[in-house]
Amino acid sequence: MENTNQSFKKNLEHRVAAIESLLDKYLPVAGEAPSIIVEAMNYSVTAGGKRLRPMLIQETYKMFGGQESFVEPFMAAMEMIHTYSLVHDDLPAMDNDEYRRGRRTTWAVYGDAMGILAGDGLLNYAFETAMKAFEECKTIEDYTKVRSALEVLAHNAGIYGMIGGQVADIEAEDKPELVTEERLQYIHTHKTGALIEASMLIGAILAGASKAEQELVSKCAMDIGLAFQIQDDILDVVGNSEELGKPVGSDAANGKQTYVTLKGFDRSVEDVERLSDEAVEILQKLPGDHAFMESLISYLIARRS
Ligand code: IPE
Ligand code: IPE
Ligand code: MG
Ligand code: MG
Ligand code: MG
Repeated sequence: MENTNQSFKKNLEHRVAAIESLLDKYLPVAGEAPSIIVEAMNYSVTAGGKRLRPMLIQETYKMFGGQESFVEPFMAAMEMIHTYSLVHDDLPAMDNDEYRRGRRTTWAVYGDAMGILAGDGLLNYAFETAMKAFEECKTIEDYTKVRSALEVLAHNAGIYGMIGGQVADIEAEDKPELVTEERLQYIHTHKTGALIEASMLIGAILAGASKAEQELVSKCAMDIGLAFQIQDDILDVVGNSEELGKPVGSDAANGKQTYVTLKGFDRSVEDVERLSDEAVEILQKLPGDHAFMESLISYLIARRS
């Protein structure tokens, strides 16, 4: 068991390193853009992080037999969108946090205005990057896949997905009476689940998964996404800010109702496990090798950062 654990950790480190070199290839360079914006954008993207979403794109793509390189621009684009969501999430007008990925947050270093603009820059640059996948297309089918993947990226990052969830999260601040279980489920599945779902769906679509397979992938991803955000809520209470690379107690300071405040600590832990088990059950109905993905899900349940 210990050995399996160690070999998973090594494997994970390799994958993170490979994703970071890939990101380096796609990061913006100043050119005619003001150098400060490029510096602020790259400051947040190169700060580290788990690189979970590009990893999910790649794993799902491989699971369905994908071998082409047009998945790569999407991996970079997804990490840019995720990072922009964090840069904006930390702003004084939102969660007002000064520490992220083990560094001072983008706004704390570059100021609020540049924090807003760096987020905007990353969002636009993400789409510019994802569209590079068209250059790799050889057949009409390839074009169709890239178009569908772009649609998923735009939809799930926007008002029907991540932004919608962030809006509901902000609206509910200091209004615990508004936050029913259903409402919290909406917040979590949108602010966090939507990008995780998009990651796995994009991998599946680019590899040519059928509609029925895509539906299973979506369900699996939504379970992973909800479990991931519940664990994030748990770590905001019992985590350690050095391990996390971000503050603990941010939710309480902002008057957020979380899974832990709504359902209690034990129930939250149980739900992370239940949702993760459900995700693994769904995975087992899918083709290909999902050993790494299963280990990744177990790792996420017990993560400390
Ligand atoms: C943080 O995401 C925001 C949430 C959706 C909970 P991650 O925990 O994936 O952050 P990084 O990318 O590892 O920094
Ligand atoms: C934010 O959730 C999810 C995003 C869309 C950025 P949190 O506000 O709980 O994320 P952290 O804890 O700051 O990473
Ligand atoms: Mg937030
Ligand atoms: Mg936050
Ligand atoms: Mg949090």
